[in-house]
Amino acid sequence: MKAKILQALRETTDYVSGQQLCEQFGVSRTAVWKAINQLKEAGYEIEAVPNKGYRIKSTPDLLNKNELLSLQKTQWIGKQLECFDVIGSTNTVAMQMAEEGAIHGTLVVADRQDSGKGRRGRNWATPSGVAIAMTILLKPEELIPSNAPMLTLVSALAVAKALEETSGVMARIKWPNDIVIDGKKVCGILTEMSTQMDFINHIAVGIGINVNNTAFDEELVDKATSMRLITGKTWNRARIVESVCEYFEQYYEIFMRTQDLSILMKEYNNYLVNRGKPVRVLDPKKEFDGQARGITDRGELLVDTWEGTRKVSSGEVSVRGIYNYV
Ligand code: BTN
Repeated sequence: MKAKILQALRETTDYVSGQQLCEQFGVSRTAVWKAINQLKEAGYEIEAVPNKGYRIKSTPDLLNKNELLSLQKTQWIGKQLECFDVIGSTNTVAMQMAEEGAIHGTLVVADRQDSGKGRRGRNWATPSGVAIAMTILLKPEELIPSNAPMLTLVSALAVAKALEETSGVMARIKWPNDIVIDGKKVCGILTEMSTQMDFINHIAVGIGINVNNTAFDEELVDKATSMRLITGKTWNRARIVESVCEYFEQYYEIFMRTQDLSILMKEYNNYLVNRGKPVRVLDPKKEFDGQARGITDRGELLVDTWEGTRKVSSGEVSVRGIYNYV
């Protein structure tokens, strides 16, 4: 009900009368009044003018169900939604929920993570009130397991687009799925999967975005940034979550048509920060240097070396810029 009232107030810049809200949601005046008061207590600035109605003046930066549902425009992501003030890891919770029957598109969001997981066994910090930790749970019945790793590139594209749309800042992708702005990382993606021999049980696409962070630990200072540090402005995290989900739906549906990146490759390459740049490929067998050219329709990075062009798969290696992080 609170989410619906919020949505109704957001849909117009004009006043919405109490009567209209009562009729729309089939509830009493008192119920509307109570809900409005609870929203005010939560930090929403809502103006109430006699004979005119209610008007929303400002919204707090909250990552909770009311805020997310009131913004929701997706078809299937977030129809099952779990929000936590504090959690260990949204990926771990999403994987557990999947085992317990959570549906395709379930969205898990946390304001803070105490044991957030990064790629390659690293930690991922999600401090309270400033960052986004979200996991989209997928149960793609028709997806062939060997095609699933490409989903991390699809997710990167969705986040880059969402950040660009919400902030106007040109976000780029560091292959395969870090999002960077001005040469520093603003978002990391961790995809985890549960499979049988030839069948995917579920996939958790975990996305961590630094939004309103103003500082980073010493070891991250040179590599990490936030939307706030880049733009000097604070951003509404729920709007960013919603935009990521909308773009994810679009790109996921395009990806599933062919189960490869043939349709999305060109767009991905336009976002690729490594394109045309010298890179060092940290192949456990033997490191090598070259110049990144772009991705293939399977998401491999093409690297021109003095011995010819090599295709690099993301599962096996990581890539560094030779002179700095990207
Ligand atoms: C990376 O190392 O770049 C990947 C970081 C992924 C972090 C996100 S935050 C939401 C989700 N939950 C986790 O525990 N990790 C991912």
